[in-house]
Amino acid sequence: MNTSKKVLLSGVKPTGKLHVGNYFGAVKQFIDMQDTYDNYVFIADYHAMTTVQNADTMKQNIIDLAASYLAAGLKPENVCLFKQSDIAEVFELGWIFNCITTMPYLERAHAYKDAMAKNKEINVGTFDYPMLMAADILIQDADVVPVGLDQKQHVEYARDTAEKFNRIFGQAFKMPEPILIKDLESIRGTDGQKMSKSYNNTIELFATYEELKKVVMSIPTDSKGVADPKNPDECNVFALHKLFATSDELSTLGGRYIKGEIGYKESKEILLASMERMILPIREKKNELLKNPSYIISLLEEGAKIAKERAVKKMNLVRKLVGTDIK
Ligand code: ADP
Ligand code: TRP
Repeated sequence: MNTSKKVLLSGVKPTGKLHVGNYFGAVKQFIDMQDTYDNYVFIADYHAMTTVQNADTMKQNIIDLAASYLAAGLKPENVCLFKQSDIAEVFELGWIFNCITTMPYLERAHAYKDAMAKNKEINVGTFDYPMLMAADILIQDADVVPVGLDQKQHVEYARDTAEKFNRIFGQAFKMPEPILIKDLESIRGTDGQKMSKSYNNTIELFATYEELKKVVMSIPTDSKGVADPKNPDECNVFALHKLFATSDELSTLGGRYIKGEIGYKESKEILLASMERMILPIREKKNELLKNPSYIISLLEEGAKIAKERAVKKMNLVRKLVGTDIK
């Protein structure tokens, strides 16, 4: 870890298998940035507890996510990889943030409003989610936080909270910057909506070839025939080509769409081949990693030591500033 570099921090909840939206929207960014920053990447297991409430599933998901990070290209020598639950100080800081935050402010959070709109029975954890996320970010002195578009507001909440704490108690926290994917659009799922586990339109990043084939070949399209000109921007298959094709392949495909030289079946077959080209090596790597969970566990323990040390230091200052350290 090189302390002269800026600090990058990001995390994903272990709620199930990583999908193409998580990968291109968040994980790929911090993998691509890992040589430039001092990296802290974690598994947001207690955030996942708002939905994952079964011990076996939780354990499995944690190991799976860590293996996915590594298989997708996160280099252990470059990154402090840890799980959130190992840093108890985060939850202490989350409480302090709760006490300086008003209910109406949290009621304005998009994620909470969406959950309310869907009429879900919302637990307190879901409501309070942004405060725990602010603690994750601020306790590690993060400079940049690469996340998907839907998490941008949460990083803004972390900034507001840092500002508020610093104003009330004195300077403790840096202002983190969110980093978003360039075209500012969410990755679309098989139905053209934002890809999300909640919409059942995901493509798992580490799916087997057979699973990929099943999903790709059943992507809904319109009823245009092979020779009909097609608008690539209106096609769910083409939206996925944008992620997996090279720029030459993409311009050839776009031309064939417009001229009516390609049918959806062929387009899907090409998509499947280019997905498999990217996914095969990382799928194999992940399967190898999963054969040795004790390696993953020890890596997470090592990471926790480093992340904890930083968190303890920050909390020593915070306790002084709020007055609970009476020495
Ligand atoms: P989901 O919506 O499937 O439950 P998560 O909320 O667990 O996904 O998201 C994990 C990370 O992946 C977040 O940083 C999020 O912004 C990003 N992400 C998820 N879906 C997409 C998408 N469709 N496009 C871009 N980024 C996404
Ligand atoms: N809320 C993020 C998500 O749903 C996960 C997360 C928790 C996170 N704490 C974080 C991301 C801190 C970046 C920084 O994906």
